[in-house]
Amino acid sequence: MNQHTRPEGGPIPFIDVAAQRRRLGRAIDDAVARVLAHCQFIQGPEVRALEADLAAFCGARHVIACASGTDALLLVLMAWEIGPGDAVICPSFTFHATAEMVALLGATPVLADVQADTFNLDPESLQRAIATAKRLGLKPRAVIPVDLFGLPADHDAIAAIAAEHGLAVLDDAAQAFGASYRGRKLGALATATTTSFFPAKPLGCYGDGGAVFTDDDALAARVKSLRVHGEGVDKYDPVRIGINGRLDTIQAAVLIEKLKIFPEEIVARDKIAARYSAALADVAKVPRVGNESTSVWAQYTIRLPPGRRDALAAALKTQGIPTAIYYAKPLHRQRAYSDCPVADGGAPVSDRLAEEVISLPMHAYLEPAVQDRIVVAVKRTLAG
Ligand SMILES: Cc1ncc(COP(=O)(O)O)c(C=O)c1O
Repeated sequence: MNQHTRPEGGPIPFIDVAAQRRRLGRAIDDAVARVLAHCQFIQGPEVRALEADLAAFCGARHVIACASGTDALLLVLMAWEIGPGDAVICPSFTFHATAEMVALLGATPVLADVQADTFNLDPESLQRAIATAKRLGLKPRAVIPVDLFGLPADHDAIAAIAAEHGLAVLDDAAQAFGASYRGRKLGALATATTTSFFPAKPLGCYGDGGAVFTDDDALAARVKSLRVHGEGVDKYDPVRIGINGRLDTIQAAVLIEKLKIFPEEIVARDKIAARYSAALADVAKVPRVGNESTSVWAQYTIRLPPGRRDALAAALKTQGIPTAIYYAKPLHRQRAYSDCPVADGGAPVSDRLAEEVISLPMHAYLEPAVQDRIVVAVKRTLAG
């Protein structure tokens, strides 16, 4: 992740965190130095400043910074008092933290299928998952659409189904903060939205971090309390059971600086994705950005006929080009989630995608010459 980019033939990083670090240079050093000087390492002024900056960026009324994208999911589910007997619909093709927090609270993740061209929750499968949950005697309480690989899910279709069945919508935008759907930025779309600031994410910090976004005043107040051990007015007289889910002040200071260049980075990522798609559309299925959306390209993922990607990954590896498979197993095939109910009709698209997907290097600092090297290698391998 941290090697330097060498267009002339050396190893290429999958995500070049070091290139961004070089660009930010003193700005980050100075921001961290300010925290080291004031020593308010927990809930320092940078945390509140970051929350205000994030709110201004995406248009959400409340932003609550927290310790990770996983904690962000947990905090919202806890605030909604999701628990045993409740069903929460999750896509099967996602990173497992989405369903993990549901199960941790004793509720049941009901796994729905996704759409092949967007990798995101299929509204028709969501309908079927709600019926499945009811048939099993569970109470459908919420749906967690995931904006996979940086692309927003079909939020209007999902919101309409959720409203019809009285479900809350928790948008897991861990991979997609900065993306927009029909002119609105993620964070201001669903009842609650969460994101992750894991270093490899489009907006990442230098450790773990996350945030909750909502326009709901009561939800925001509960999440704030839950983030600090269920605190009330008196810190030592908690009003509910919570967690220690705060974001470190140093991480907030880093994120404030990174957010300043994030809009430019999104544009750069989009250009790189467009270049990939133009070059590779004749040899692979390239990602489609529909629904009047923009993507932040957490991953650039192509699809190949089953059986072809291992040879491609091996050939690219010998040329110093890394690839990744997100995800080789959908949740319903993973050991920890194999007992979770799957929507009627199963999740055949998730199964197929798990055999077809392969992600190529993607970050805002991928130079044209390096990208050309990747494109030529992919095309040569797939043609041969
Ligand atoms: C879709 C999704 N949800 C949740 C998470 C969890 O975020 P974190 O690693 O910050 O806990 C991730 C992280 O990769 C993710 O991709």
